[in-house]
Amino acid sequence: MTNFQETFTLIAKTSSGLEQVLADELIGIGATDVSLMTRAVSFTADKRMMYKANYCLRTALRILKPLTSFKAREEDQLYDQVRKIDWSLLLSTEQTFAIDAVVSGKYFTHSQYIALKTKDAIADQFRERFGKRPSVDTVAPHLRINLHISNDQCNLLLDSSGDSLHKRGYRIVVDKAPINEVLAAGLVLLTGWKGDSNFVDCMCGSGTIPIEAAMIAANIPAGYYREWFGFQHWVDFDEALWKEVMTEASDQIRDFDFEIIGSDRSAKAIDIARENVRKAHLHKDIQLFRKPMEQFVPPAGGGILVINPPYGERLEEENINALYTLIGNTLKHKFKGYKAWVISSDFFALKLIGLKPSKKIPVFNGPLDCRFVCFDIFDGSLKDKKTREAGSAGEMTDKDANSNQ
Ligand SMILES: C[S@@+](CC[C@H](N)C(=O)[O-])C[C@H]1O[C@@H](n2cnc3c(N)ncnc32)[C@H](O)[C@@H]1O
Repeated sequence: MTNFQETFTLIAKTSSGLEQVLADELIGIGATDVSLMTRAVSFTADKRMMYKANYCLRTALRILKPLTSFKAREEDQLYDQVRKIDWSLLLSTEQTFAIDAVVSGKYFTHSQYIALKTKDAIADQFRERFGKRPSVDTVAPHLRINLHISNDQCNLLLDSSGDSLHKRGYRIVVDKAPINEVLAAGLVLLTGWKGDSNFVDCMCGSGTIPIEAAMIAANIPAGYYREWFGFQHWVDFDEALWKEVMTEASDQIRDFDFEIIGSDRSAKAIDIARENVRKAHLHKDIQLFRKPMEQFVPPAGGGILVINPPYGERLEEENINALYTLIGNTLKHKFKGYKAWVISSDFFALKLIGLKPSKKIPVFNGPLDCRFVCFDIFDGSLKDKKTREAGSAGEMTDKDANSNQ
């Protein structure tokens, strides 16, 4: 069992494209030895940092604690290795557990069967030693165990989150194609926005992006509304330490001055967004309107726009093309002074926006390979911009100037 001072390696899983944002978040909360992996970031932690990572990180999906590694090429070898671990140090017969298995390579092929074999090894050990065994609960187990197999390399890890951290606890209802909370927070963080200007999402659907933006601006911990984390059921759970971590993080909650606005043309979407915003107690911080984007008037003074428009899975191609053309026209005419960010998997439609992107970041929305694209909508004419920049930068060529006209 870990004790308070003991340090160990943890692995924070995330979605593809958010690794660097997650690493920055980890450094921000004081983690050390932060190192990028594929769809994950490893770091060194003690128990306090493990609790803090679960509570505060916006772009982590799960925080895993490596338990042991071994080689196996056959199911019986796997079974024997799993039985070698003294599971009574981690689990009691009254508790429940679940195995999540991910397998790749030539020796093992069926992850569900492998999960079953692992479950049998644990259950058999308990039955032999105590005459009874803990039950399996795949939804909310006391101990969730991850098994990753790549060829003959088997890694067992304990899931300290227990359930995916995208389940923040505020989203009670969703409209069509809601964005995952972890991706929504990641997109806001990728823009560099931290509550220091206006923030608009005028295709807000169920409100996920404005809610994550408001949580960032107000410094509300990502897990603030969540009811439980896996580590709370671990036998070494330190309740006093956990309360300390929650209080320390919640003490950092702050007010912010700028406007956060969500709007959508669908009345149903806005009703849903309103319910979610209320559940997150952010109804005083986020304004919601039912309005098509083309009629939306953003607050003066510039700011950040993030939209997650439909990608074309449901709309006819010509409608999608018309929608992205309309987005481009609206940005050019209504969003001067804004940095407009659009996420889409439809690369052709993104071109129809008709503006030159200043940034293009590859991210995945579920299985969809997307680009998160930034358009700087300059306030004033290109000529004004060139004059301004030439004044501040000394010299400016046509090629350097980022035309939106
Ligand atoms: C993919 S969904 C956004 C999902 C949202 N990010 C969430 O987490 O629920 C796209 C949204 O764009 C809205 N939409 C499509 N065309 C629009 C337009 N012209 N003006 C405003 N909203 C529009 C749809 O009603 C839909 O809610």
